[in-house]
Amino acid sequence: MSSVVLRTENVTQRFGGLCAVSNASIEVREGEIVGIIGPNGAGKSTLFNDITGLYTPTEGKIYFYDQDITGKKPYEITKLGLARTFQNIRLFPTMTVLENVMLGAHCRTKANLLDVVLHTRRNKKEEQDIRERALDILRITELYDFRYNYATSLPYGMQRRLEFARAIASNPKILMFDEPAAGMNEEETQDLNVFIKKLQDMGYTILLIEHDMKLVMNICERIYVLDHGALISHGTPEQIRSDPRVIEAYLGKEE
Ligand SMILES: Nc1ncnc2c1ncn2[C@@H]1O[C@H](COP(=O)(O)OP(=O)(O)OP(=O)(O)O)[C@@H](O)[C@H]1O
Ligand SMILES: [Mg+2]
Repeated sequence: MSSVVLRTENVTQRFGGLCAVSNASIEVREGEIVGIIGPNGAGKSTLFNDITGLYTPTEGKIYFYDQDITGKKPYEITKLGLARTFQNIRLFPTMTVLENVMLGAHCRTKANLLDVVLHTRRNKKEEQDIRERALDILRITELYDFRYNYATSLPYGMQRRLEFARAIASNPKILMFDEPAAGMNEEETQDLNVFIKKLQDMGYTILLIEHDMKLVMNICERIYVLDHGALISHGTPEQIRSDPRVIEAYLGKEE
């Protein structure tokens, strides 16, 4: 069996009196596409924030392979090999498409601040390597022709794709997408479906939060369902679709 890339162990996140995530244990194996679904406010993004170091869980542990990463800083976690996108697009509007992707690769550079300021040879070589790598990624994500355009001049679906490109640029082992299809039309969602499959073929492991059921059921091998912070179900798309607890969480209890 392939190894476990990411594991949360009884993660709980409280905000004052509110328990946003309660005792959540999930695991993602190498090469898998795993989904997290659940109604609004279920705690999905909070769990992502715990995993990627934006929050520190109130209780529980998070492991990347066998390494305990609980409480590590976001940049340390990115450097280890976890990259994410956000529910709301976070691009640098005054930078070009290429610059946005190059920025994503910068967590890997060895050049220190002094190198950058003094424009040392090491810095120049690294900058060149990063540029080449960013251009390769732009070809893969079919954004190459737009490399000199401002990021925010792109249509919505492409801006989303640019976010994926930037995440890939950090050379991650696992990609975490928070509602990648949000705001996309039918055609863009279909393209996204193909694109995520392509990322899997390229060897990436993927964990995604998504409301678009068609997309989730299509691409995920396994799905976790969160409701009011707690995991209420876990299984294959077929198992999830027919689980009465899931149907109840989405449709509400019949009185
Ligand atoms: N920093 C925070 N401080 C206080 N409460 C928070 C914070 N972040 C999230 N919450 C609360 O935690 C709960 C879970 O929010 P979260 O954003 O994780 O839900 P979600 O499942 O991602 O929902 P959606 O599908 O709407 O994106 C909500 O009640 C939210 O208001
Ligand atoms: Mg969310």
